[in-house]
Amino acid sequence: MASYLDRIGAGKILLDPAPLSYDYIPDKLVGREEQLEHLAAIFQQINDHSVSCRAAITGNVGSGKTVLSHVFTRDLQRYLGSKRNIKLVHVNCRNHPSKSQVLQRIVTSLDSRHPERGFGSGEILQSIRKQLHSRTEHLLLILDEVDHLLRADKGDLLYQLLRIDEGRESRGTISLIIISQEQVLDQLEGAVLSRFGKSNHIRLEPYKAPALAAIAQQRAQLSCVDETVSEAVLRTVGERASETGDARVAIELLDNAIKQAEMAGRSDVLVDDVRWQAKEIGRTVEPNIVNDLNLHAKMILLALCRRLRKEDEVTTGDGEKLYHVVCEEYGAEPRSHTTFWKHLKRLEGLELIHARTDSRSEGRGRTQYLSMPAALPGSLEKRLENTLEHSS
Ligand SMILES: Nc1ncnc2c1ncn2[C@@H]1O[C@H](COP(=O)(O)OP(=O)(O)OP(=O)(O)O)[C@@H](O)[C@H]1O
Ligand SMILES: [Mg+2]
Repeated sequence: MASYLDRIGAGKILLDPAPLSYDYIPDKLVGREEQLEHLAAIFQQINDHSVSCRAAITGNVGSGKTVLSHVFTRDLQRYLGSKRNIKLVHVNCRNHPSKSQVLQRIVTSLDSRHPERGFGSGEILQSIRKQLHSRTEHLLLILDEVDHLLRADKGDLLYQLLRIDEGRESRGTISLIIISQEQVLDQLEGAVLSRFGKSNHIRLEPYKAPALAAIAQQRAQLSCVDETVSEAVLRTVGERASETGDARVAIELLDNAIKQAEMAGRSDVLVDDVRWQAKEIGRTVEPNIVNDLNLHAKMILLALCRRLRKEDEVTTGDGEKLYHVVCEEYGAEPRSHTTFWKHLKRLEGLELIHARTDSRSEGRGRTQYLSMPAALPGSLEKRLENTLEHSS
């Protein structure tokens, strides 16, 4: 048998690719406890058969709106069990932007043999209502990316849905969750949102680096062999993805890094596997940014690159020592500690390096850890050496 095929099925890192796919819904959300509690408060009365609830979720791309709605409604359905029979229907209005398409989705999820056409929306709504009542089911409808529907339909369907029980004896037919990206909201949607009430509006903030690292960690644990993805790798993923605050970017960075490590036949992921493709999603360091630095800033950056090529972080203390070594190499007199600090701040301002403060790994007190999530230290090192050689 040809030995080059040996690697098939012999992933050294990846056990299960499913948790790395976009539509995978984890059992637990990372760091969204408050928002889940908020939803639970909005739906507090939902066990009462005459009650309908409504909530609106907004936030940036990849802030977890869709997954939050999935996890909450799934948990709610399980929690209520037989206390109230919840029928979940999740419609993505980007794919079904018209009123009739949305209605069709609801109808077919209740009864797959329902005839396609020939009814007005009022009639279809009443038939939906009848069906739900005859089966004592409560419809929990999630309209995701609702801005598409609102643009096509001017909010007409939404008002009909909200008023479905008006003038009827029995109530509590439909609960609604609408979802939209915040950047695309216009006046119309603003007006619709305000109908939902301020206290029913949940705004998701973009994720910061530690949350993105934690999300990546959850996926790594679910999909990879233990200890193949280090904390340093996850931290770099988090830092790099925090430029967008988009959880999808974090998962994608992790996924690609794993693929790259496996392609290389390694049995663990390296920080460089993340860095290599991280440059694809953001800025790369422009040559003129480096060329415009003064001599000592270049030498400091070179010192940091040399360490960060092998490790994901370096303390400022070590960084300063390494800088002194570089000064010696180029026959320059090291600048004072204060000037060293000023240069670090400037490099941070240019986003060439990233600093986090944490307690020391040895000894007491706190120190700064420097990393380079936005650049590839190896190639930057070469460029710096070239310009330093030219100038000396
Ligand atoms: N808190 C979290 N815990 C675990 N996974 C998360 C979390 N937030 C987001 N994710 C994952 O990140 C990805 C993006 O999240 P999601 O699709 O919910 O974002 P979104 O806000 O709906 O984005 P869009 O505006 O593009 O629709 C999904 O794979 C989702 O499972
Ligand atoms: Mg979404």
